[in-house]
Amino acid sequence: MALFPIKGRTPASPSLPHGRNSSKWAHLIALCSALALAACQQAGPNGDVDSARIARSAGDGQDWLVHGRTYDGQRYSPLEQITPANANGLGLAWYADLDTNRGQEATPLVIDGMIYVSTAWSKVKAYDGRSGAPLWEYDPEVPGKAAVKACCDVVNRGLGAWGDKLFVGTLDGRLIALDRKTGKPLWSATTVDPDKPYTITGAPIVIKGRVIIGNGGADMGAVRGYVTAYDADSGKQLWRFYTVPDNPANGPQPAYLERALKTWKGDFWKYGGGGTVWDSMAYDPDLDLLYLGVGNGSPWNQAYRSPGGGDNLYLSSVVAIRPETGDYVWHYQETPGETWDYTATQHIILADLMIDGKPRKVLMQAPKNGFFYVIDRETGKLISASNYVPVNWADGIDLKTGRPRFRKEARYDETGKPAIVTPSSGGAHNWQPMAYDAKSGLVFIPAQVTAGVYVPFKDWKPSPRGFNSGTDFAASAMPADPAIRARAVASVKGMLIAWDPVAQKERWRVNYPGPSNGGLLATAGGVVFQGTAGGQFNAFEATTGRKLWSMDAQTGILAAPISYAIDGEQYVAVMVGWGSIFGIAPPGNISTMSGALPNISRLLVFRLGGKAMLPEKQAWSPAPIDPPAISGTEAQWKTGHDRFARYCAQCHGETAYGGTVLPDLRRSATLADPDTWTMVVRDGALEMNGMAAWKDILSDEEIEALRLYVIKRANEDRKSGQ
Ligand code: HEC
Repeated sequence: MALFPIKGRTPASPSLPHGRNSSKWAHLIALCSALALAACQQAGPNGDVDSARIARSAGDGQDWLVHGRTYDGQRYSPLEQITPANANGLGLAWYADLDTNRGQEATPLVIDGMIYVSTAWSKVKAYDGRSGAPLWEYDPEVPGKAAVKACCDVVNRGLGAWGDKLFVGTLDGRLIALDRKTGKPLWSATTVDPDKPYTITGAPIVIKGRVIIGNGGADMGAVRGYVTAYDADSGKQLWRFYTVPDNPANGPQPAYLERALKTWKGDFWKYGGGGTVWDSMAYDPDLDLLYLGVGNGSPWNQAYRSPGGGDNLYLSSVVAIRPETGDYVWHYQETPGETWDYTATQHIILADLMIDGKPRKVLMQAPKNGFFYVIDRETGKLISASNYVPVNWADGIDLKTGRPRFRKEARYDETGKPAIVTPSSGGAHNWQPMAYDAKSGLVFIPAQVTAGVYVPFKDWKPSPRGFNSGTDFAASAMPADPAIRARAVASVKGMLIAWDPVAQKERWRVNYPGPSNGGLLATAGGVVFQGTAGGQFNAFEATTGRKLWSMDAQTGILAAPISYAIDGEQYVAVMVGWGSIFGIAPPGNISTMSGALPNISRLLVFRLGGKAMLPEKQAWSPAPIDPPAISGTEAQWKTGHDRFARYCAQCHGETAYGGTVLPDLRRSATLADPDTWTMVVRDGALEMNGMAAWKDILSDEEIEALRLYVIKRANEDRKSGQ
């Protein structure tokens, strides 16, 4: 199989940390194992993680115990050693190469001086936070064929911690408890039906010994969203909370689902309904409320999902429940009857704000639909909403009813006509975490301006695999004409927005050439950190947005940074590694704007005066586009185009316009070799690396049509070389 360099599964280089004395490191590792790691744990109090310790850590920047640092998800570190005055003295303290070459989205945890990360393929690694010495690693061995269930790469966004354990959700739907000291698995629970396209990419939240985990999959097929709670010690299932109702023929449902049932029409249960909780959760210990961000409908197009409309509760909503029982308390629906993949799964931040002279306990969210919501988190009542980027699907949110004023022409599900809608399904803001700085009163949003063409899919039928949105990607796919494509790409923008949630106004912004930039970290030193799609890791002054410092990370950055302290020294850490975005980060996102970057997956750790160096930057250049001559018929090219949009574009780029992370098929040697193409595409020769076998879904004729279509596309693009 020399034809295929193995992508994403094997290390780019041995997983060694860098930027430290290697003989000292070997010594430390030996010491760590000899003393059962005791010597490695002098940095912190060595305590179990519990409610009291999480509460205490709010005012103490040593650890990072929860995905959003604290249960309120503010991602605000109280550390203040790094300031606008000295931030230009930041340098690399150490870094570690990761053994996966796919999108890295995780927020690390730091407990007692150790840093724990999850990577692509749901692997977990532990390092000494000061030296970078690796302590242990754990690979849940996610089967390669699980990759095809994920819309947007084999990513993982983080871990949960409780007691002496860590918890990771795996792409194939397991929740696994690890011994934090050794990385040994303690229990594993299957949280999804393996025959359905469920995945887990989000971090668990652990509340009072209950590990709560959601899932994703509503773009990919008939899934019904829920979160499940497991006992942290035993892995026993405690409760499950569904976000959308079941088939009424299956008997009575809990009251909140009976109420929801009235907002659905048709045989919605056949399509699952959707509403997956694939990312954000937050917790208020005083109110004892757990907040869930609920996802889009399955399929997107409401005309198929719930013909005749309806609000379709609890899609695109924030729902408050009791963490001990899973009982429903309140909900607020942001996009009733959503039809554009407008998830409300984006980062939820809890804060206390002075609004009209009164202190209010609020919940803040900037979901995909482009409005910034401030909600009363005791009652779920809307306080204010304002768009943070231009939108064209609604003329604002009615503050009395809390409902958007829809623009009719955006509802392609009702008109049956294509609509160009902004934001697109990529969202005005996606999963990349925000941060809130109470001192400056600002929320930092990794925002973007995007537009999508939503074309109703005529006579759509669900397929057991591929995209199941009920919208026609073949009709709306990125145009092959390079000039039109350049225009479409140029209309997409990215920016960091500093948002005043009380005034509902932008205070400052930093414009980036393209979308899909990294998550945020705010610090008490008055410095805000963010990485970019273009590979820069930046520090800004929180009050003004003035750039203080920047470092070339050599690869796109999506994940959010964290900060922690050991022996009085402040560190900033971030996972880097391009990938993730639908189409696996096609260069259309960045190449015309920031230059195409490869995936180089690493954990980078900074401190003032850090002197470590990354290896020299390797120039990245793709193989030439050198296809065989065009052959086939119009009918074959059309079949190839349609099947590609539905089954291949998710990983190989729209209209075969490939990215830097997975093979760009226009450049593949398999185009000239039908037998190898068949071995890979039909029989799954590369399945263990995440390239599924398609024999159960596509006929031999369709698989050959795909090859002829890609050959045609490659010939079209050969001249421009892009
Ligand atoms: C879930 C992601 C995913 C989807 C969907 C997908 N692929 Fe792939 N594909 C991959 C990955 C990952 C590789 C590289 C595997 C490796 O490096 O061993 C790959 C490799 C290939 C290769 C080999 C290319 C080379 O030169 O090495 C071909 C051909 C291919 N895919 C065709 C297709 C076709 C046709 C479809 C649609 C029917 C498709 N793929 C759908 C992930 C995907």
